Amino acid sequence: MRAIEHTAYGSPDVLRLTEVDPPVPGHRDVLVKVVATTVTSAECAMRRGEPRWGRVVIGFTRPRRRMRRLGMELAGEVAAVGAGVTRFRPGDRVFGFTGFGLGAYADYKCMPELGSLAVMPANTTFEQAAAAVDGATTALFFLRDQARVRPGQRVLVVGASGSVGTYAVQLAKHLGAHVTGVCGTRNTALVAELGADHVIDYTEADFTANGERYDVVFDTVGRSSFSACRPSLTPRGCYVPTTGLHNVPLVWLTGLSRGRRVVGGMSVHKGELLAYVRDLIEQDRLRIVIDRTYPLERIADAHRYVDTGHKTGNVVITLGGAS
Ligand SMILES: NC(=O)c1ccc[n+]([C@@H]2O[C@H](COP(=O)([O-])OP(=O)(O)OC[C@H]3O[C@@H](n4cnc5c(N)ncnc54)[C@H](OP(=O)(O)O)[C@@H]3O)[C@@H](O)[C@H]2O)c1
Repeated sequence: MRAIEHTAYGSPDVLRLTEVDPPVPGHRDVLVKVVATTVTSAECAMRRGEPRWGRVVIGFTRPRRRMRRLGMELAGEVAAVGAGVTRFRPGDRVFGFTGFGLGAYADYKCMPELGSLAVMPANTTFEQAAAAVDGATTALFFLRDQARVRPGQRVLVVGASGSVGTYAVQLAKHLGAHVTGVCGTRNTALVAELGADHVIDYTEADFTANGERYDVVFDTVGRSSFSACRPSLTPRGCYVPTTGLHNVPLVWLTGLSRGRRVVGGMSVHKGELLAYVRDLIEQDRLRIVIDRTYPLERIADAHRYVDTGHKTGNVVITLGGAS
């Protein structure tokens, strides 16, 4: 089967198309014929070997063997199942998250039956389903489970035009919040269409200086800090970053107080989150924003584009039709 691998950190040119043996599903594994995957900002950072401290996990001087095939999000068709699998059958159309197991940049990927895998929405293409995995479940995890957004609260989303951000705007509305989206000039109309009550163009205004107070500031792109956002939070408000090692001690420290706090975490087990997202999509209550789509052979171009930091929503990679 085809697989994209990299054995060194660097520019998108380190990505190589290779031929490898397809994986064989174990007793409780599901073998997925990958039809679509994506290029996320996180994967581009992993390809570059950034942040440097992350190399403790991904490999100090070059990617560890199991980190050489990127691809966190997938949608495809179940090709085979292990003897002990009861939840999936060959032919099921599924979407899922490989996490640090990575490996979706390939024609086939084995997923544990009880991992982050679910039947995909009935009303989407494989390309759309692949783009509805990490951004949507991450936004849901932080807003619903970590910040515990309640109806009537005021939520501000920084990076409202990104993958996590486009879903965050819609999910915060779904949870009953009043939503302010922060994005660049070319995406202000999109963010309003997604349901934001108010949109701030970051090239023209600084939300930390507008005198407004928010119950939740959700920075999906790491462009702000707790100290800068503190005055913009209500007395019991929370700052929710998706990235930044420096935020980890702040989560512990501020968690001890009853005042403004930093809320963090990582959504790793996504089974229930995927099912929730699927239901919203099937009810036409969650829109999937796809910026560009590339075939597997042009994955380096997709990485070059995501490296700019200016994608809108999601960038999808297609691998070819299901059987
Ligand atoms: N903790 C977790 O579980 C978890 C899970 C998933 C992702 N993440 C992390 O979350 C981060 C976001 O990922 P993503 O894929 O959603 O990002 P993304 O799609 O790459 O974000 C790009 C968007 O950010 C906008 N942007 C750039 N600078 C901005 C600013 N100063 N203010 C407002 N918007 C700005 C850009 O708009 P313009 O083009 O107009 O500049 C662009 O549309 C990544 O670092 C990823 O590693 C964490």
